[in-house]
Amino acid sequence: MAQRLIAGNWKMNGLRDALAEARAIINGLAPLPDTFDTLICPPFTLIAGLASVAKDSRLTIGGQDCHFDAHGAHTGDVSAEMLADCGASHVIVGHSERRADHGETNALVAAKATAAFRAGVTPIICVGETSEERASGQAVQSVANQIATSVPQDAAGRRVVIAYEPIWAIGSGRTPTLDEIAEMHDSIRLKLSERTGDATARETPLLYGGSMAPANAAEILSVPNVDGGLIGGASLKADSFLSICAAAA
Ligand code: PGA
Repeated sequence: MAQRLIAGNWKMNGLRDALAEARAIINGLAPLPDTFDTLICPPFTLIAGLASVAKDSRLTIGGQDCHFDAHGAHTGDVSAEMLADCGASHVIVGHSERRADHGETNALVAAKATAAFRAGVTPIICVGETSEERASGQAVQSVANQIATSVPQDAAGRRVVIAYEPIWAIGSGRTPTLDEIAEMHDSIRLKLSERTGDATARETPLLYGGSMAPANAAEILSVPNVDGGLIGGASLKADSFLSICAAAA
């Protein structure tokens, strides 16, 4: 079975004083049982600082994106090797905001995940449907297509994380029903098996993301095949992030 993971995505939020929030998270995690992993993905500028604060704690640090090359003439980009060098253990790839804002395709997302493997960093591959796809009954098929094309061919036997994030649920305060989440996560596990084989698919944490909050975390985390959460807004404050961690414990 996959180890549970509660991951925070700070997006483009946080100046250096956010290190205090990370310290509060680390202190708050100490008394919780060790039955789940925790991760914060801050902006690039805070990765090294947070990694240093989190050293010798159970909080791990990740990036929010990486380039597929290891180095070179790519102004403004950061490689998976650079993230690893700063202390990152994970990197989010293919978040819907990057797919929308930067035109990232499934093929590019797969290339970024392969780059993460190369650098020894675990990719968190994001998938999710639009509200139109949900309304027209196409959500499961759309996400299945993303799994088939965003998860790289070389993922078998690798550590990888999948985050299911319905685009319409992100930052909206709306979430799918528990039945809809269950149906989607069952389908993702199945599609992943076809792509990576059963053993890898079984060990891959499937996270739910999109308006996860202290009020709904326990019920969402109780859904079969939900192995954790990718949390945006509610990860910015230690209190709310820790409440979600407590629900996972
Ligand atoms: P949200 O964001 O929790 O603020 O909805 C989740 C995400 O985009 O990863």
